[in-house]
Amino acid sequence: MRFDVITLFPEMFAALTESGVSRRAIQSELYALKTWNPRQFTLDKHKTVDDRPYGGGPGMVMMYQPLKETLSAIEGELQAKPHVVYLSPQGQPLTQQKVADLTQYDNITLLCGRYEGVDERLITSSVDEEISIGDFVVSGGELPAMMLMDAVIRLIPGALGHSQSAEQDSFSDGLLDCPHYTRPEVVDGMCVPSVLMEGNHAKIDAWRQAQKLVRTQQRRPDILSDINS
Ligand SMILES: C[S@@+](CC[C@H](N)C(=O)[O-])C[C@H]1O[C@@H](n2cnc3c(N)ncnc32)[C@H](O)[C@@H]1O
Repeated sequence: MRFDVITLFPEMFAALTESGVSRRAIQSELYALKTWNPRQFTLDKHKTVDDRPYGGGPGMVMMYQPLKETLSAIEGELQAKPHVVYLSPQGQPLTQQKVADLTQYDNITLLCGRYEGVDERLITSSVDEEISIGDFVVSGGELPAMMLMDAVIRLIPGALGHSQSAEQDSFSDGLLDCPHYTRPEVVDGMCVPSVLMEGNHAKIDAWRQAQKLVRTQQRRPDILSDINS
């Protein structure tokens, strides 16, 4: 799997490639990442990527031409049409199901907006889908893109140390995960549930499943009703 990221702040993506699961995965060549700065595709000496909005109002808008040229360069290098995602608060919510769906693509291009966003004509002509990380607004698409990438990367076979880790995570079977405990057995007067200490794996599995159901019912009854409907 390869990610091409269009961003005015390519240095931010070191957070992915220099730490944790996503660092190990890129070192193992489970995915590749290339950042593209649209300033490299501008036509003027000031390398202008944004301009004032038609109709007036505050802020600036990312211009069509540098972004279109960047997309063309990516397509030229890949010799294939990538799946193009614009990170946007107006997009479909990023869910675990959406993350799983994205793993089907060999090439994903992520467009990170800044300012007031991107000229709408670029979105209508060149973007396959818009994805949101939640009903709030952040300053740019870079952090949303990194969240999306991290979520996708951990589903690539071999990316996680234990093959079942991702399957047991919250949302993968529609429920929240169960609580986890590690040593010591007692800390500040709080004990580990005794069932986890007894070595009966059938009982442990049943307890974990019950915890998942209780937690989901208490914390996210909305997703429980989604499963039942
Ligand atoms: C300040 S925001 C622009 C918000 C835009 N004016 C709006 O209200 O829809 C700048 C960029 O941050 C990114 N962004 C902000 N919030 C986001 C979210 N919840 N999910 C995904 N991307 C987001 C988008 O790429 C957006 O173009």
